[in-house]
Amino acid sequence: MEGTPTTEDTTSLAAVLRALRERAGLSQEELARRAGLSTHAVSALERGTRTRPYPHTLRALSAALSLPEADRSRLIASVPPRARPARAASDAATARPRDLPVPTTALLGRDEDVRRVGRLLAEHRLVTLSGTGGVGKTRLALAVAADVRDRYADGVTLVELAPLMEPSAVLPAVADAVEATRGVGRSVAEDVVERVRGQHLLLVLDNLEHLLDAAPEVAALIEAAPDLTVLATSRAPLRVRGETEVAVEPLGLPSATTSTAASPAARLLLERAGAVSPGWGTDPAEEAAVAATCVRLAGLPLALELAAARARLLDPATLLTRLDTALREGPRDLPARQRTMRATLDWSHGLLGEDEQRLLRLLGVFVGGFTLADLEDVVARTGAPAGSSVALLESLVEHSLVVTAPGGTRFRMLEPVAQYARVLLVEAGEWEAAATAHAAHFLALAEATGPRYRDEGQVAALARIDPEHANLTAAAERMLAGGDVEGAARTAWALWLYWWLRGHHGHGRRLAEAVLARGGMADDVHARAALAAATMCFAMDDVDAALHWWQDAHLHSTGNPVIDSNSVAGIGLAALARGELVTAREQFTAALDLAARGGEESEWTWALAHIWLGTVALLLGDPDEAVRRVEAGLASARRRGDRLASYIALYNLFQVELARGEHARARRHLEEGLRLSTETGDQANLAYLLDALATIEAAEGTVSRVPLLVGAAQGIRETIGSRGYGYYRPDPDVLAAAEAAARQRLGTDRYDDALDAGRALSPEQAAHLALGGHTA
Ligand SMILES: Nc1ncnc2c1ncn2[C@@H]1O[C@H](COP(=O)(O)OP(=O)(O)O)[C@@H](O)[C@H]1O
Ligand SMILES: [Mg+2]
Repeated sequence: MEGTPTTEDTTSLAAVLRALRERAGLSQEELARRAGLSTHAVSALERGTRTRPYPHTLRALSAALSLPEADRSRLIASVPPRARPARAASDAATARPRDLPVPTTALLGRDEDVRRVGRLLAEHRLVTLSGTGGVGKTRLALAVAADVRDRYADGVTLVELAPLMEPSAVLPAVADAVEATRGVGRSVAEDVVERVRGQHLLLVLDNLEHLLDAAPEVAALIEAAPDLTVLATSRAPLRVRGETEVAVEPLGLPSATTSTAASPAARLLLERAGAVSPGWGTDPAEEAAVAATCVRLAGLPLALELAAARARLLDPATLLTRLDTALREGPRDLPARQRTMRATLDWSHGLLGEDEQRLLRLLGVFVGGFTLADLEDVVARTGAPAGSSVALLESLVEHSLVVTAPGGTRFRMLEPVAQYARVLLVEAGEWEAAATAHAAHFLALAEATGPRYRDEGQVAALARIDPEHANLTAAAERMLAGGDVEGAARTAWALWLYWWLRGHHGHGRRLAEAVLARGGMADDVHARAALAAATMCFAMDDVDAALHWWQDAHLHSTGNPVIDSNSVAGIGLAALARGELVTAREQFTAALDLAARGGEESEWTWALAHIWLGTVALLLGDPDEAVRRVEAGLASARRRGDRLASYIALYNLFQVELARGEHARARRHLEEGLRLSTETGDQANLAYLLDALATIEAAEGTVSRVPLLVGAAQGIRETIGSRGYGYYRPDPDVLAAAEAAARQRLGTDRYDDALDAGRALSPEQAAHLALGGHTA
């Protein structure tokens, strides 16, 4: 007997650990001794007062209990997921693509499928939902993911693959989605493995069908990361070892045993039709036509939705006759369901006016949706009259060919429709012109937004670009593929600060380096691409590569002070990162002069060069000079409303003031920096500031919050990797001393409990704690 049944949650870490310990016949003391932990730590875990042990603590416990693989997984799975990092900048920026979208309509007829796939996922690590476009794979995958989410300690990450054009882009997209940190000299696959190893994660790869060459990489990833599970959707199975395929069937049809109204296919048809024409098909006399329509459309949800969209004008009998004729004429060379889907799309398309048809085709050029304003501009760039786009788009929405995102400001097509539109666009010979117009529009958007990352428009610029990142990437890749290397280079230059602030370093680096590998650009364009590549490399702590590209940018300089000041300052940053302080000072000083010649456009670099000179001065033991330099940079940043340069400056001022024992000032500056970086959603910076706050509280003699703050910083770094701030040079001994003092004063048990509580905080909670918990 395994103890008495209780009503307590048996899947919590506390309950799982207790059960495993008791099964091993160990007392808490014995387990603690074997695992090299304190008895308090084991007891706190079993009481549920400590919930987020370090991965190495879990490993030690597993080893001490000699757990087999399945129990080890269960123990790991019982750790609650970390709150997902959400950008605090604005609502728009908060919507991370990895958060599962919540459908606005009810899921019909899939209860058994959801359960079955959920069961399969418990036993197999790669499950593929296969089936023709429009059969409901994505919808089912989302429902399954939501259903099993709680089983995965590290949650569910959705990777939308439809926007990708190359199989080689799959792993990088996964790397971005799981926020893998780029390691020097490592492959992207290794970066991902490094990130997800030990994580109990469900990765949903939606729309893998056009990228099947990436399937072996996905299989290899699963082999290398034993706690990773993948749920993929694809028209065709991946055909790799370890794959379990679930062929998604269309919705259940009316039959001898299922009445029309109770069958999922008919419910879908009636619900969608009833939304545009209340009561449609509910007359008993119409039942046969409704049932026959479902059968004719093979229960394919998308086909049913397209048919239902015509319910305003067509009663069930007429709809059936029209569909019947159209489907009989459908393309013959395809498998049955695909033929039905294609014929339904052809039918729906054939009912559109010429202008609507032209617009539908053009929409095939967008990736990841679009706004009305983007659409109008792209239409205008193709030379077509733009005036009527609103009415035409409205009609496409009415016909279920375009769907609106919640909030109603963005539009997109379901993937089978998007693919259909792309085929039509190519067949009409319009692809080239459309892609050119699309690329020109998004390059213009990137270039109009680029300067805003350096002034008070930062937060708005981030929010504007966030939803368009897939369009921007597609634009750059198409320019690159089409030979417009300079266009792609300009996109990289316009976007690098966006990538920096959003942590898309690996992505940005790949694009910029692909551009540079193609070469053949005018010197100043080449130099800009090299600057973009350099900063991304620097953000990834690859200082050697960063230096290479900064020097390359310098070599290609044509005397433009913006380019020169950036490349010279960059060379200084590489020196600073390597501790070559005198070289760094020379370079920053030279960068200052160059930036001063560049006028307004390089004032940003001018301000940062000042701030970095301050960092060097502090490290060289001249705090007065440091303050002078940093304050000059800060004044410029404040004048321009530039949060980023402001908080970099404030962090440096803090370092000086802490060293000088000016605690009140130090704290004021730190808190201002915290507020500003919360506004841009800069979590790497937040982690530094939390550590900094811990050091100052210790210096002030109040150690009670030190473990909480340090834990919160650790938690953030675990989630995002340490990123970007190679020029923040806090003295590690100061933090270590603060931690030691706190541990000594609070006692190890209290310290570790608080550290654990800090590690469980979300970035928002951590920022709130840091800002709110103190009265100066
Ligand atoms: N079980 C279902 N209940 C309600 N609507 C569904 C269901 N399955 C699919 N749909 C709808 O049908 C359309 C196509 O489904 P989707 O999952 O996108 O297909 P696929 O991914 O196979 O191409 C979507 O609008 C989706 O919301
Ligand atoms: Mg899909």
